[in-house]
Amino acid sequence: MGAIRAVSTRLKDEPAGAAAMGASGFGTMKSAKVRYNPGNLGDLLKHGWLVEIVRFLHRHGAGRPLRYADTFCGFPEYDIGSEFAERIRERFHVLNFRRLQEPFLARGKYAGSVTLAGLAAEGRLRPCIYDIDPGALASFPAGQTEVLALTSGCDILEAGDPYDLIFLDPYDDVRDGCGRVLARAAARSRGASILIFLPFRDEARGESIAAEVQRQGTHCLTGIVHNPGSPLDGRHHFAAVFIPAATINPGAVLGLFGELNVVTARVNALATLPEPMRAQSMREGEASGNPSTGRPR
Ligand SMILES: C[S@@+](CC[C@H](N)C(=O)[O-])C[C@H]1O[C@@H](n2cnc3c(N)ncnc32)[C@H](O)[C@@H]1O
Repeated sequence: MGAIRAVSTRLKDEPAGAAAMGASGFGTMKSAKVRYNPGNLGDLLKHGWLVEIVRFLHRHGAGRPLRYADTFCGFPEYDIGSEFAERIRERFHVLNFRRLQEPFLARGKYAGSVTLAGLAAEGRLRPCIYDIDPGALASFPAGQTEVLALTSGCDILEAGDPYDLIFLDPYDDVRDGCGRVLARAAARSRGASILIFLPFRDEARGESIAAEVQRQGTHCLTGIVHNPGSPLDGRHHFAAVFIPAATINPGAVLGLFGELNVVTARVNALATLPEPMRAQSMREGEASGNPSTGRPR
């Protein structure tokens, strides 16, 4: 999987391939056109989590390749703006994520989820992919991924195939179908770990997502990033929900939950201060040698 290197210059802010996700998906996508800058706060949350989760499952997988389903797979990589690349390098202190992204950032790119998962699993990954956009599917080199026969990404929750990790990464606010998708994911977690990324527009939705997750009563972790709405990051807030497979010892997963909480805290730290204040804080951190605001640890 480390060999997935197909280049796509299609940006994530192009229109989604289809506006409606149908009965089995996340309800109806509200906007057909989504402004999307690779490397934004949502990407840092979901990809920061994805890297830690895949590393954990890889460590606990007894050396066999991880079966990974990514059914909103997008592209292997994206073009990234220099301000986003700089922000990751200078101020996003999540080392595993940054180490894997660095070769891509060095050539003005940003690795997408399938590519990152393969790298985090040190090549020991069997990726099964789906995207409603045929152009996205075609951008992965033949023979390195298996394309699933679905009609919508969430259908994977009904497929009985054995996966170690299912990643659901829709574009837009999922207000209509969120509870239903979380319930289906909770049921599916008997056989697979599940990571769901949920962008949302109304800030109060964060609490209702957390409440909905709690209502499911599954052993899981939620991370919320409140986006103050800088020009870099658009107007969505972001939630990530990780439901470990029921077969994983809950004790073993606590350390991972700690790592994921650190990622969430660092994305929120990046989000908290307006840009000029963040730059000022960086300068002060460097001058004082304060590791929390200075150079990456
Ligand atoms: C946020 S992007 C995915 C990014 C990718 N996971 C990554 O991290 O690199 C969302 C993707 O979902 C696809 N999509 C939209 N509706 C879908 C559906 N109902 N089923 C599957 N894919 C869908 C879009 O074409 C788009 O590529």
